[in-house]
Amino acid sequence: MQAVILVGGQGTRLRPLTLTVPKPMLPLMNRPFLEFQIELCKRYGVTDIILSTAYKPEVFAARFGDGSALGVKLTYVTEEEPLDTCGAVKNVEQHIQGTFLVFNGDVLSDLNLANLIAYHREKGGKATLYLTRVEDPTAYGLVPLDRRGRICEFLEKPSWDQVITDLINAGTYVLEPEVLDRVPAGECYSFERQLFPGLLEDGIPMYGFPSDAYWLDIGTPAKYLQAHYDILRRMLPFRFRGEMVRPSVWVEGEADISPEVSIFGPTVIGEGCRIAPHATVSSNCVLGPGCVVEEGAHLEGAVLHAGCRVGADSVLRQCALSEGVVIGERVHVSDMAVVGGGVKVGEDNELRYGIRVWPGHDIPPSTLRFLTN
Ligand code: GDD
Ligand code: MG
Repeated sequence: MQAVILVGGQGTRLRPLTLTVPKPMLPLMNRPFLEFQIELCKRYGVTDIILSTAYKPEVFAARFGDGSALGVKLTYVTEEEPLDTCGAVKNVEQHIQGTFLVFNGDVLSDLNLANLIAYHREKGGKATLYLTRVEDPTAYGLVPLDRRGRICEFLEKPSWDQVITDLINAGTYVLEPEVLDRVPAGECYSFERQLFPGLLEDGIPMYGFPSDAYWLDIGTPAKYLQAHYDILRRMLPFRFRGEMVRPSVWVEGEADISPEVSIFGPTVIGEGCRIAPHATVSSNCVLGPGCVVEEGAHLEGAVLHAGCRVGADSVLRQCALSEGVVIGERVHVSDMAVVGGGVKVGEDNELRYGIRVWPGHDIPPSTLRFLTN
């Protein structure tokens, strides 16, 4: 069976991380996120994969080429203008033969695809949607089922008074190709707001496949960090690379780690990192390749992309730094703060409470410390 992965969104909720890197290519555990989806497909024998791109399409091909390094065959199709989720699939129709899978490109999941496909065949509908349960369905597509598992309604981003189930669209579908006959070519068209409600209105059978497999949409900074923490806590199968130097502390390749560093797992340190004496790298950190952590700095729950520097005595907690960020001395970064690529944060600053710093907006040293001293 073939799969189409939708990777054309702009990832606005994850800016500034997604200003330079499309969301599906953001590093997760120091690997492009999309690799996780490709590996899931491969695990179930799905090796013919079409990537539907729109935003920064060149980044995908530059990294994955024809897919042979990952053991799959990749076909790239780029929209001139984004065509929305279903228009994007219509746009790759000429590559599709027979029943096929569609994936939202920002979902981390451990779904058993073989079971989903078998359920689709058993029920004989035109579409089968993987469903998961969440506490707040209002950020997703709400999918109530009848007793036989048939979908009764599809409500995208419902208001609370419409919430009659906690089952939501998990962003993976098995589709019969004829559903695309209803979709106009070359136009914006949405699965969630047009195709699915339209199929239901016309009485065409669609089924839901609820599963309690691990599931997470990585679309916000909090979820993006959560994905790292969950993998580090082994909630998903993941092959850690490099050497385990202490319990649950993995070092990927050569790194210069002072013997006087305190490191606690689970944590991953990328190749070529340098960690100075008396620094602490505590649990739930992932350091990209070539990061530098200076003396006395303290990191916990911090995700650093490649080539970041953390100045002496700075504290990083639950935050994400894009490539090449330079943090000065005695800086505090915490509470879902996100710092964009190459930003320099001068000494003694505090970045907290979901603050987002855009590339090109360096922050000068703060004088606050001198005022309060
Ligand atoms: N090629 C292409 N073109 N891809 C697109 C386009 C487009 O115009 N627009 C969005 N995508 C891709 C995104 O890259 C993403 O992988 C996927 O389609 C879904 O878009 P999101 O923007 O992430 O949607 P969402 O998270 O708000 O909601 C969707 O996912 C939820 C589950 O995570 C919906 O499918 C919901 O119903 C669902 O519950
Ligand atoms: Mg999403």
